[in-house]
Amino acid sequence: MAQFPTTRTTTPKQKPADDTLAFGKVLTDHMFLMNHEEGKGWHNPRIEPYGPLSLDPATSVLHYGQAIFDGLKAFRGDDGQIRLFRPDRHAERFNRSARLMSMPEVPVDIIRASFDALVGLDADWVPRKGGTSLYLRPTIIATDVMLGVHPAHSLLYFLILSPVGSYYKEGVKPVRILATDKHVRAVKGGTGEAKTAANYAQSLAGQQDAAAQGYTQVLYLDGVHRKYLDEVGTMNIMVKIGDEVITPPLAGTILDGVTRASTLQLMRDWGLKVSERAITIDEVMEAGRSGALKEMWGTGTAAVVSPVGTLGYKGEDVTINGGETGELTQKLYDAIVGIQYGRTNDPHGWTSVV
Ligand code: COI
Repeated sequence: MAQFPTTRTTTPKQKPADDTLAFGKVLTDHMFLMNHEEGKGWHNPRIEPYGPLSLDPATSVLHYGQAIFDGLKAFRGDDGQIRLFRPDRHAERFNRSARLMSMPEVPVDIIRASFDALVGLDADWVPRKGGTSLYLRPTIIATDVMLGVHPAHSLLYFLILSPVGSYYKEGVKPVRILATDKHVRAVKGGTGEAKTAANYAQSLAGQQDAAAQGYTQVLYLDGVHRKYLDEVGTMNIMVKIGDEVITPPLAGTILDGVTRASTLQLMRDWGLKVSERAITIDEVMEAGRSGALKEMWGTGTAAVVSPVGTLGYKGEDVTINGGETGELTQKLYDAIVGIQYGRTNDPHGWTSVV
């Protein structure tokens, strides 16, 4: 493992009990930091006690939102080993977000080394209870101090860690999703493919609307026709209609989810009929009414595989699989989680022991 200059905390925090963990409310004892300046590139990697960043009020990220992040998890297996799930793929996606947001890429080996070093140092923070994990949040922010709009020369890479339980308050129970043609998440040529702060800031209004109507999340439709399924914002979406599993294609507006790719691979391994194709909300609602919509679920690092029990659209609700978790949804959840905790073999080599 690469060694980075490390200042250990002298005041370690009290760790929460595993059964009290929600998502992202508690941060660990240390953080990884690294700077970028023009002419110097990425330099000064270091680990410090977790704590506030000091930023000038004119720092460009605070005004123009040039910021990217990613999210991945470390799992403590039944064998006691700590495994990262698909860290290389997350590092590559992080760099794709960097390119899309005009930020310098970070060499993948440095990103990977930062994951291993920080998780290794804060290893006691990886929770033990089933369904819990340590969430890694690598981030880059633009730190130029000036108010002109321009791609930053000075940037800060940081990595923070949070022990987490379920993302949704429902836990692994089916969630209620509202499809909306009022709010749009992204359009082609925009930032929809990037994991950038703005995508999440602009999702809040739709989220509030959905919550006010008793739904957990919003299902966004495409920004042009407002009829094709896009994604949920916190997860990609999949439907099983008859014997075909359908998920929107990677066509420039949705995130290239790592759990999306992993579940697609597993279903193809299992010989299922899987299509990455455009599908309209009308087709899905009609399938819901007729009973052809067998299952619906979301995939994401935070969400894992989350069953959808109810889909609302234009004042109508369809209940999917009697509001219960479907058989395939459960099988996918079990397969992903089995690999993540090292309970089953890992045929594609997705996990990496820290
Ligand atoms: C993730 O699944 O890692 C996400 O980033 C979704 C959300 C927590 C922002």
